[in-house]
Amino acid sequence: MHVKIQHVSKTYASGGGYAVKALDNISLTIENSEFVCLLGPSGCGKSTLLKLIAGIESSSSGSVQVGGAHMSGPSPERGFVFQEHALFPWLNVRDNISFGLDMKRLDRKTKKNTVNDYLRLLGLEKAARLYPKQLSGGMSQRVAIARALCLNPRLLLLDEPFAALDAILRQKMQEEMVRIWRRENKSFILVTHDVEEAIYLADRIIIMTPGPGTIKDNIPVSLPRPRIRTEAGFIQLRGKILRLLQSDEPETGDLLPLACITNERLKPVLN
Ligand SMILES: Nc1ncnc2c1ncn2[C@@H]1O[C@H](COP(=O)(O)OP(=O)(O)O)[C@@H](O)[C@H]1O
Ligand SMILES: [Mg+2]
Repeated sequence: MHVKIQHVSKTYASGGGYAVKALDNISLTIENSEFVCLLGPSGCGKSTLLKLIAGIESSSSGSVQVGGAHMSGPSPERGFVFQEHALFPWLNVRDNISFGLDMKRLDRKTKKNTVNDYLRLLGLEKAARLYPKQLSGGMSQRVAIARALCLNPRLLLLDEPFAALDAILRQKMQEEMVRIWRRENKSFILVTHDVEEAIYLADRIIIMTPGPGTIKDNIPVSLPRPRIRTEAGFIQLRGKILRLLQSDEPETGDLLPLACITNERLKPVLN
């Protein structure tokens, strides 16, 4: 699914008469079937950008287009997997995955086949009858991904989906993510603050910096897949990206009085 973001800024009103400029003048295009990672430190607006593309937040200025149409709110064409896997504790794995499908008018057999397909794709067949409290973090995240995918979105948005997993499981999930992306032929946008994760997964890495959130660089990754973390090209790219990120000392000046943002041209007073 094609995504076109042009000159987008986003300011949140926060407590005490202050506002936070989370994104400043972001322009970005994502192609059909592309795997893009948004990479940057905490607070640089990665989640905000993902929510704008999902349609669950609206921009303060600029334009967001998905599939050639201007953003008009959330749509089943765009699946979202949150950092905290929000599963329904009272439903088992199978029912958590099929939950969204209940809204679609599918016959029972098609529905069952679809859920079976995604249980298989995510390696969850044996866990189908378990409840969320019986699952490990990795399993829960697989359920969240299966639930988003079985609605057949054209674009899958993932917000730090593996952040809570240990290193070994995280690598395994990254490998599976590439396999799933290749099978599904959809655009994936994945947020991470882990440089290796971004290089392992992405066709293109968007490097973001905070205070306020901007795009610092746009790096195509041409390494062949499956990528090998110990290969020279991988290590070289990791060094390059780390240097780019480290050249940005985090700024604290992203708070500005609300009065200052009523006119878009006014600059943040503390920057
Ligand atoms: N709902 C909100 N209300 C007020 N400020 C917010 C809200 N969401 C995010 N922010 C602020 O916007 C900035 C970017 O946040 P976020 O998009 O969550 O960054 P990231 O995902 O890169 O950590 C931060 O300064 C954060 O505190
Ligand atoms: Mg975030």
